[in-house]
Amino acid sequence: MSTPTPIVGILMGSDSDWPVMSACAKTFKDFGIAYEAKVLSAHRTPDQALDYASGAQARGMKILIGAAGGAAHLAGVLAAKTELPVLAVPMPSKHLGGLDSLLAMVQMPGGIPVATFAIGEAGAVNAALFAISMLALNDAEIARKLSAFRVKQTEKVLSKTLPEVE
Ligand code: RP5
Repeated sequence: MSTPTPIVGILMGSDSDWPVMSACAKTFKDFGIAYEAKVLSAHRTPDQALDYASGAQARGMKILIGAAGGAAHLAGVLAAKTELPVLAVPMPSKHLGGLDSLLAMVQMPGGIPVATFAIGEAGAVNAALFAISMLALNDAEIARKLSAFRVKQTEKVLSKTLPEVE
């Protein structure tokens, strides 16, 4: 059975990032968007990270998402080697809670942008939703699914009830 060609790459510095980044992958899956998820490190596998980024556009990829924690250079390194949009998700780190990851990602030098999201699972989901909104610009079916998602989310929030106070 052939699998659809991925149009989004989800890269992360370690498999220890997967418990958070699986929420990103799940969002693409829910929207029926073909993605691939891989461990690639700016520091531990620099040659492979650079090769991935430089070959991504020719393989038909549209958007890359880079997640890393601590000295979080992956998204920036990917962006250095591709003109595709690169989204960055800061991972919660063991010692500094992810603020280190966030600051490392957000302080890119002028000329090589990455779009950085919130630390942790909210950022993982929002990076996927942001990618989906970019894809929706040229795909009516994705746009329809995004509108349906937003309607459902609105209804879910408005249906909430709060418990009585004692
Ligand atoms: C980063 O270092 C990874 O993205 C991960 O968030 C962090 C820790 O990696 P491990 O030591 O758990 O492999 O490169």
